[in-house]
Amino acid sequence: MIIRTTKDIPASEITDPLVFRERRKIIKAMLATMVAGTGIAPALADNNNSAWANLPKGDFSADLLTPTPAELIKNYTNYYEFAFNKQDSTKLAQNLRTDPWSVEISGEVENPGIFYLEDILRQQVLQERIYRFRCVEAWSMVVPWVGFSLGNLLKTVKPLSTAKFVKFTAVHQPDIMPRQRNNAMLEWPYVEGLRIDEAMHPLATLAVGMYGDILPKQNGAPLRLIVPWKYGFKNIKAIVKIELLKRPPITSWSQFAPKEYGFYANVNPAVSHPRWSQNSERQLGSGFFSPRRQTELFNGYGEQVASLYSDMDLRHFF
Ligand code: MTE
Repeated sequence: MIIRTTKDIPASEITDPLVFRERRKIIKAMLATMVAGTGIAPALADNNNSAWANLPKGDFSADLLTPTPAELIKNYTNYYEFAFNKQDSTKLAQNLRTDPWSVEISGEVENPGIFYLEDILRQQVLQERIYRFRCVEAWSMVVPWVGFSLGNLLKTVKPLSTAKFVKFTAVHQPDIMPRQRNNAMLEWPYVEGLRIDEAMHPLATLAVGMYGDILPKQNGAPLRLIVPWKYGFKNIKAIVKIELLKRPPITSWSQFAPKEYGFYANVNPAVSHPRWSQNSERQLGSGFFSPRRQTELFNGYGEQVASLYSDMDLRHFF
C-alpha cells in the first residue's frame, strides 16, 4: 500500500455549492464522510485535543504510524519568513492572510491559469495521509495530513513533454513577514523544486489540512507541499505559484548554502550534514529519555521511491 488513507472521498460526494464557499467546511464535510465510513486509527482517537477524539475505532493497517500530538506539531515550527525560532514563528504566523487564496499554475503546460483554492479542492480527491516528517535538523514527527495528489493537480493543466522540473513559490507578504521586510537570510519569496517524476509520484502531496481540520497557519496554510521521503525544508508552505520548467529552478536553501542543503535532499542516514550526523533523529513527543530513532534511507519510503534514483549515486546527489 503506497498511500495510507482511511478512505478516498471523491469531492463529487460533497457537491453542495455552499459548502465550497468555505475551505474549512469542505474539509469538515469530507471528514464527516470518512468517519461514517471505515473508522479512524486509535492513535488519532487518543488525541483528545482535537475533533478526532471519541471517533470509532476501525479497520486499519497494522503498520499504521502513531501521529505526534497535534499541540507539538503546531508549536514547533520552522517558518523563516516570520522568525528564526520555533515559538515566535508559530505566534507571528497567525497574521498570515489566507483568504482569498489562489494558485497560479504556468510554464510548460497546455492549460495555464490562476485557480482559486476552493476550485482546486472541488476537483481533487481529499485523503488522510499519515506520513513521517524528518527535518534536516535531525528531529522528526508523524503527521496526519489531509491533502491530495500533486500529480493529479498537475495533470489537470496538461504538462507538455518539455516539462522536466516543477518550481513552487511561497507567498510574499512583507508587511506581515518581518524577515521578508528585512531581506533576512534567504532570498524571498521562499522557493522549492522537484523533478517532474518526483512531482508525479503518488506520495507527493499537497496538504490543505492536518488532524482533521484546515492547516494551522504556522504549518503552511492554506496549501503546502509534502514530500515525505525528503528533508523538511523541501516541504514549502503557503504556495501561491507552481511552474513547470525545462530546467531546474534555483531553490532558496540550496542557493543560501549549497553544501548543506541540496536540491534533492532525500533523507539519507549515510550522508552527514557538514555540521552534524544524519544517522539518527529525535522524535518529537517521545520523551526526554527515549532512544533516538535510527534514520531510514528515503525516510522509510524506499520501497516506493528508490526507483526514481536508480541511476544516481546518492552520496553525491544530496
Ligand atoms: N516553507 C516556507 N514558506 N517557509 C519556511 O521557512 N521552512 C521549511 C518547510 N517549509 C519553511 C517552509 C522547513 S526548514 C521545515 S523543517 C518545514 O517547513 C517545517 O514544517 P513545520 O513547521 O510544519 O514543522
